[in-house]
Amino acid sequence: MSGFSDRLPGGRKGTGSLKWDGMEVMFGSGTHDAIPMWVADMDFPCPEAVSAAVLSRARHNVYGYPFAGERFRRAVAGWVARSYGWEIDEEWVVPCSGVVSSIATSIIATTSPGDGVLIQPPVYYPFANCVRGLGRRLVENPLILENGRYAMDEKGLREALREVKAALLCSPHNPVGRVWSEEELAVFTDSCSAAGVTVISDEIHADIILGGRRHKPAATAGGDPGTVAVTCCSTSKTFNTAGLSASAAIVPDPGMRTHFLDAMRSIGHFGPSLFGIEALVAAYTDESCREWLCGLLAYLEDNLAFLKGQIAAGLPGVRVIEPEGTYLAWLDCRDLGMDDEALAGFFMRDLKMALDPGIIFGTGGSGFMRLNFACPRENLSVTIPS
Ligand SMILES: Cc1ncc(COP(=O)(O)O)c(C=O)c1O
Repeated sequence: MSGFSDRLPGGRKGTGSLKWDGMEVMFGSGTHDAIPMWVADMDFPCPEAVSAAVLSRARHNVYGYPFAGERFRRAVAGWVARSYGWEIDEEWVVPCSGVVSSIATSIIATTSPGDGVLIQPPVYYPFANCVRGLGRRLVENPLILENGRYAMDEKGLREALREVKAALLCSPHNPVGRVWSEEELAVFTDSCSAAGVTVISDEIHADIILGGRRHKPAATAGGDPGTVAVTCCSTSKTFNTAGLSASAAIVPDPGMRTHFLDAMRSIGHFGPSLFGIEALVAAYTDESCREWLCGLLAYLEDNLAFLKGQIAAGLPGVRVIEPEGTYLAWLDCRDLGMDDEALAGFFMRDLKMALDPGIIFGTGGSGFMRLNFACPRENLSVTIPS
């Protein structure tokens, strides 16, 4: 098993990594020496069984159009059954490329141009981009922050649902790190069901659960299992395979599956990549990958504790909102009294840490920063310049 503390031999610079090589394009020139802690990928190699599967397929050097068949569907069904106790029919699994493509596909499948689509900001910013980009109306029900913990605004939700056809759920929630409880999910799906609103649930972070909590698929919470039309899952966060473009949409209803497949065709969303298929099947079926994941979660827990210590000692004006899941820490920097530009500049120029500014996650993100702590621990040392 890999030592998560080890630096990758040669590092990631120059490997065509968005996180490392794309920094100057994202943050401007002169930022190359900052430590990248922004985009959600990990500075750890994936499990050996995953790279072995990719390398084995690469040796068969014909790279024509791939076909994700029964093997892929069975791997996804097996993973969700063993991980979350969700027994699904293999037929429900639609092989997809990335989850963002599946979100766009789901919006097309469940709504028409001009329809309202609900999001709960601050939230993963491609949600709003997809809704607007597809000519749908963005309707927001911002999360509420109370005593350092985020919650859904139940009353606001019921009002906002009157204006929409579909609702996007982020579970666990990026960037605030909530692992929604069964009760919270039931309130959400039951409210949607009562309003005749279809739920699209992005569960890409479902395996990165901290503090002994459990992830509950939204489709298994609440009274009407048909409310969640599409659940998106992927190996990309769990096993660090984002560059391989493979994920799955779980679409239980046959009619909705037809709409989903039609929508895929309408935007040229072909499905997973050749290597992504091999990676997903290995990650979800090889027992050594589950052991690797246990090791990862333990390392992330320790990283989080270390980070909190570093911040408490070095940045007393910054409060870490305790993530219950994901490897993303949401930092409340409002007491520093800086505007968003100054705040981003402070982290980048003074601390040499490249973080995502909270403002990009929409309403409620101003004054916050998002820090990716899936990296060797030594990268998390916060050094305040004297
Ligand atoms: C909530 C959420 N959904 C989707 C994605 C991206 O998924 P993909 O790379 O499979 O499109 C991310 C990546 O950070 C994410 O946090």
